[in-house]
Amino acid sequence: MQYKFKIAGGDFSNAGTVASSVKKILRQLNIDHPVSKRIVIALYEAEVNVVAHAHSGIIEVDIDNEKIRIVITDQGPGIPDIEKAMEEGFSTASPQVREMGFGAGMGLSNMKKNSDILNITSEPGKGTVVELIEFLKSDAR
Ligand SMILES: Nc1ncnc2c1ncn2[C@@H]1O[C@H](COP(=O)(O)OP(=O)(O)O)[C@@H](O)[C@H]1O
Ligand SMILES: [Mg+2]
Repeated sequence: MQYKFKIAGGDFSNAGTVASSVKKILRQLNIDHPVSKRIVIALYEAEVNVVAHAHSGIIEVDIDNEKIRIVITDQGPGIPDIEKAMEEGFSTASPQVREMGFGAGMGLSNMKKNSDILNITSEPGKGTVVELIEFLKSDAR
């Protein structure tokens, strides 16, 4: 099954709506709760990052019998130093963004913790591609 969503940069009132939709879909598919919880947390962080740091983005969700694969592709400034960005507490979020409760610098490390595979590629000045994979146990479906 494949699903596709769009996200608008700067639209904080809708930050997290894709993660909520995917949560519902996974529940309807009877995906094991600990698995869906992890991937939804990781997706939420990736979605918020597009809203907070990029101009626009697309989220593609692909579910098969073995795994959930989510690819988040955005147009934006990109991440010049991914290793640095992964550090807990590192954030370039503006004071306004922090005032709204975002920008603690924990998103990428949270994504790492809550996914089986996290791949980030980025082209500074163009955008970022984040791939999240969560494997389903054979007895979980
Ligand atoms: N999609 C993205 N586009 C551009 N920069 C990003 C993106 N995602 C993360 N970053 C950069 O990595 C930093 C760390 O991200 P994260 O751990 O989620 O913390 P936070 O979002 O709270 O700043 C961000 O502050 C930003 O500089
Ligand atoms: Mg973040």
